[in-house]
Amino acid sequence: MKDKIQALLAEIDGLKAASSVELEALRVKYLSKKGEVSVLFNDFREVPNELKREVGQLLNELKTRAQDKLTSLKDELVASAEQSEMLDLTRTAEPIMLGTRHPLSLVKNEIIDIFSRIGFTIAEGPEIEDDWHVFGALNFPPEHPARDMQDTFFIEQNPDVVLRTHTSSVQSRIMSVQKPPLRMVFPGRVYRNEAISYRAHCFFHQVEGLYIDKDVSFADLKQALMYFAQEMFGPSTQIRLRPSYFPFTEPSAEMDISCNLCGGKGCPFCKHTGWVEILGCGMVDPNVLENCGIDSKVYSGYAFGMGVERITNLKYQVKDLRLFSENDVRFLRQFESAY
Ligand code: DAH
Repeated sequence: MKDKIQALLAEIDGLKAASSVELEALRVKYLSKKGEVSVLFNDFREVPNELKREVGQLLNELKTRAQDKLTSLKDELVASAEQSEMLDLTRTAEPIMLGTRHPLSLVKNEIIDIFSRIGFTIAEGPEIEDDWHVFGALNFPPEHPARDMQDTFFIEQNPDVVLRTHTSSVQSRIMSVQKPPLRMVFPGRVYRNEAISYRAHCFFHQVEGLYIDKDVSFADLKQALMYFAQEMFGPSTQIRLRPSYFPFTEPSAEMDISCNLCGGKGCPFCKHTGWVEILGCGMVDPNVLENCGIDSKVYSGYAFGMGVERITNLKYQVKDLRLFSENDVRFLRQFESAY
């Protein structure tokens, strides 16, 4: 009998139950009226008197051990059930929130797309530039008042190092290292020392365009810009070129498009003029070509530059420039369905 008890003790120590059904089966097997432990208690009567004390103690130990084991198995089952309740497999799946493209990226990509359809490729240049590429090569002589047009951030330790104020700097870089024909757009971020308000920011984005070849004329420029305006703002868009001044182009012009909100009839957005300004342009000044090592007697070209924020404002009526750099998802989510 002692051997039997010892064997059962070992057996009970190793018991496992994966469900409450299995647990109940164990209880019946060991502790019910006809269970193995109860049967041993019945057999106890036959144990010789001199062994009764020892066997009795063992039997009691067996019973408590079996009860304790079943209780702890039950606790384990309850704990794991609680855990699996936290995993509610019937819950509706959460939609995966996709990120959105930034409106400025959308518009920048659209500008690039439009020009790439007429043969323009893309190049980029550094945001931290030297004076030569931002001003010197582009025909801004030292002390030329035109430098005041742009509030430049200079690096204190070295006045030759500036944050570029326009992406025209990429023009001077590319023209210095590549031979015409060149037909390219230069997208990028630019910096100006302006107080931040709804209509000005200390950084913003531009796309510059450049076409250099033999016999490039102002008519080519006008045609390319007309095509751009109609692709961007719709086929009924009209353009208007007004004479202007930039050191790096001669002649220079600013381009207006017929107000895309009122169709040119006049509204508060276009200040009742029917026109809104979108870019600066002109024929590349021969001095600029020469500064960059291109023979101005053989080649001519046009250039234009536009603000991406400005075009975005016209396309999506974003009135406050600061929204573009605040990264408020309530603003950005509105562009979810744009491509
Ligand atoms: N760089 C000028 C600016 O930042 C924009 C510009 C005007 C670019 C005329 C051009 C141009 O290429 O021909 O205001």
